[in-house]
Amino acid sequence: MQRQWRLASRPEGIPDRSHFDLVEVPIPAIEPGKAVVKTLYLGVAPVMLRYMRNETDFESPIALGSVMAGRGVAQVIESDCIDLPVGAIVQARVGWQEYALIDTSQRPAPFVLPTDLPLSHGIGAVSLSGITALVGLRDIGNVKPSDRILVSGAAGGVGSHVAEIAKALGATTVVGIAGGPEKCRRLSTAMGYDEVIDYKNQDIDQALDKTFPDGIDLYFDNVGGALLDNVLGRINRRARIVICGSISEYLIDKEKRHKFINVQNLGRQDAKMEGFFVFDYENQYPACIDTLANWVRNKTLNPVEDISEGIETMPDALADLYLGNNVGVRMVKVAEPDLPP
Ligand SMILES: NC(=O)c1ccc[n+]([C@@H]2O[C@H](COP(=O)([O-])OP(=O)(O)OC[C@H]3O[C@@H](n4cnc5c(N)ncnc54)[C@H](OP(=O)(O)O)[C@@H]3O)[C@@H](O)[C@H]2O)c1
Repeated sequence: MQRQWRLASRPEGIPDRSHFDLVEVPIPAIEPGKAVVKTLYLGVAPVMLRYMRNETDFESPIALGSVMAGRGVAQVIESDCIDLPVGAIVQARVGWQEYALIDTSQRPAPFVLPTDLPLSHGIGAVSLSGITALVGLRDIGNVKPSDRILVSGAAGGVGSHVAEIAKALGATTVVGIAGGPEKCRRLSTAMGYDEVIDYKNQDIDQALDKTFPDGIDLYFDNVGGALLDNVLGRINRRARIVICGSISEYLIDKEKRHKFINVQNLGRQDAKMEGFFVFDYENQYPACIDTLANWVRNKTLNPVEDISEGIETMPDALADLYLGNNVGVRMVKVAEPDLPP
């Protein structure tokens, strides 16, 4: 038997345990062309709230009573699929459960992880968080050595990688915004940020005036809303705004969201604002993972992870993202591998 979290109700606000049921079900049997995997780590992401509300078009609707969707690191324990050999450690859409039956038709397809690094990095640094930071900075942000860079949500899963990756790509000055003194301390001591702004304890206008007296060249945005509008009023010529996410608005009804007043500045400054979705870059994953793994090996990239133990902690892990409790990549350790990786 195995444990599995099922969606029990659709949250209005921050998701919590009451929106899920933890049930015991049989471990799935192998089927032709598929593989049975054992879940080792599960990730959480702000977008999961939107899956729970059926607000996305890239994740098939989750019916009430179904397994909660999500990706994790897993080991193949039984296989009838040549691309998923027994023993392989993969990152895949396994759902919130201890064992899953998977195949290669899921998108993005399961991908094999490096096994010389901690397996937890398969949730963050050498997986979708790291790839999001890399693609966002390099392909969308076109980062340059002279850029004065600002990052919001800087201590989160994606943001905790952005400063070190920007520097690996040639940048020299990266400023991070996060909420609270402990997070801000970790930004400069563990995540490579040169200067930090604590938006919960500092006046944001004064802090941005002081930190960016000559304006902002590149903004990597994880939060959206009023802060994005404020930054739009401070951009330099040919600035680039990378829209990675907008977590500050995910819990707010459309009509109550921030009304932007500085968008015209994009035209005045000949600047670019562009969103992107990491699932659309699947063909670049192998090359990105190679690059990220090498940066971890040579300590250019030093992942910060926030791990709780046991599948029973999944709802709390998801809630932590909305409560601002996580420092670095929030994930849950579910089990040890059965076979040596
Ligand atoms: N474009 C893509 O393909 C892609 C891929 C992955 C993620 N994303 C997006 O990127 C963003 C970051 O994702 P992540 O996985 O790294 O999550 P994350 O940053 O770890 O999310 C949790 C953090 O968000 C901050 N936060 C929560 N509520 C907030 C609010 N109301 N206002 C401001 N900050 C708030 C909190 O940090 P503070 O305490 O510092 O506020 C919290 O610790 C999200 O918007 C996500 O949807 C996009």
